[in-house]
Amino acid sequence: MKLLVTGGAGFIGSAFVRLAVSEHISIVNLDKLTYAGNPENLASLASSPLYEFVKGDICDGPLVARLLERYLPDGIVHFAAESHVDRSILSPTDFFETNLRGTFTLLEAARAHKIARFVHVSTDEVYGSLEAPLEADEDFPLVTNSPYSASKAGSDLLARSYFKTYNLPVMITRASNNYGPYHFPEKLIPLMIMNALEGHALPVYGDGQQIRDWLYVEDHVRGILSVFHRGKEGEVYNIGGNRSLPNLDVVRKILDLTGKPESLIQYVSDRPGHDRRYALNSNKLTRATGWEPRMNFEEGLAKTVAWYRANSSWVDNVRSGAYRDYYARNYANR
Ligand code: NAD
Ligand code: DAU
Repeated sequence: MKLLVTGGAGFIGSAFVRLAVSEHISIVNLDKLTYAGNPENLASLASSPLYEFVKGDICDGPLVARLLERYLPDGIVHFAAESHVDRSILSPTDFFETNLRGTFTLLEAARAHKIARFVHVSTDEVYGSLEAPLEADEDFPLVTNSPYSASKAGSDLLARSYFKTYNLPVMITRASNNYGPYHFPEKLIPLMIMNALEGHALPVYGDGQQIRDWLYVEDHVRGILSVFHRGKEGEVYNIGGNRSLPNLDVVRKILDLTGKPESLIQYVSDRPGHDRRYALNSNKLTRATGWEPRMNFEEGLAKTVAWYRANSSWVDNVRSGAYRDYYARNYANR
């Protein structure tokens, strides 16, 4: 089997590529290598005959068409996106370009080339902020609050329309917050780990009581592969970690694991439009494929901290001047 993966040099895409290759699936990885894309994430596959990298933009229709003609993939798994909410607040343009126009370009190419399976990777953020004890199932309304989540919900609706109108065999997955190795240190967990290890302040937005459901990245990509193999065309599948925690609890666990004091916590002004609580019901995926999250959060977090301790050169390489500029823009005046 051969798959075209988009965004395979990012955090979740690279975990998917490692899993797929370990299961003897050939991968062609189309990735633009934005600030978030890093070939080092796939260094372990450098000499694998099952892995090929193509640098390029999913908005480039002729390139995507050439790849589909040349490789004749059995399916597409689409990860490529601008993925960080804070960046979508600072500068939304690339989010609409990649997440909407890029997804549209891929869907058009998939339709023209009669692709047999298309998994569109999406997020629980499309369901918006939920009052406890509500949990979103796949029929929950899409109520988006950030430019990021609006662009993802738009791309989900495009994908759905290609199934309804053209019978393109699309499946959509919506996952909760991922964590694990190779996570770019702009997101809560890797940012807090790096700052704690270096003795810098840990910037908690607002009161730190916002709730996220944490999913280990390897559990997520196992879920996506099970949807690829056994999901039903036209269906949406939630993929949750079944571990909801307030941000402050997560930050305190990181301080414990790194042996750093509470005094590093710094409350800063809140994220505009900040979603208070996400909560996901993934029973449909479990019923359809038997998938369940396997990683316990405390164990996964300890593994993640150990990975960042052991991979300081990976961290140094991704924290370039551009990262420092972003950090200053996002945190300087909070
Ligand atoms: P990431 O930011 O780590 O990686 C995104 C990848 O896409 C990078 O390799 C980047 O170079 C590539 N890319 C960006 N624009 C591109 C373009 N125009 N053409 C080709 N490649 C491009 O993201 P991630 O956290 O790995 O997320 C992957 C997907 O999963 C996204 O669609 C995201 O919305 C979704 N998702 C993420 C989470 C999470 O917690 N991180 C949870 C649920 C869903
Ligand atoms: O829910 C799935 C989504 O999870 C994915 O679709 C997104 O791609 C991914 O980025 C993530 O979005 P969040 O906004 O939930 O993740 P982030 O790590 O940016 O923030 C998690 C929570 O931590 C959120 O409530 C904001 C808060 N936070 C974040 C940062 C970066 C802080 O308090 N301080 C920070 O410095």
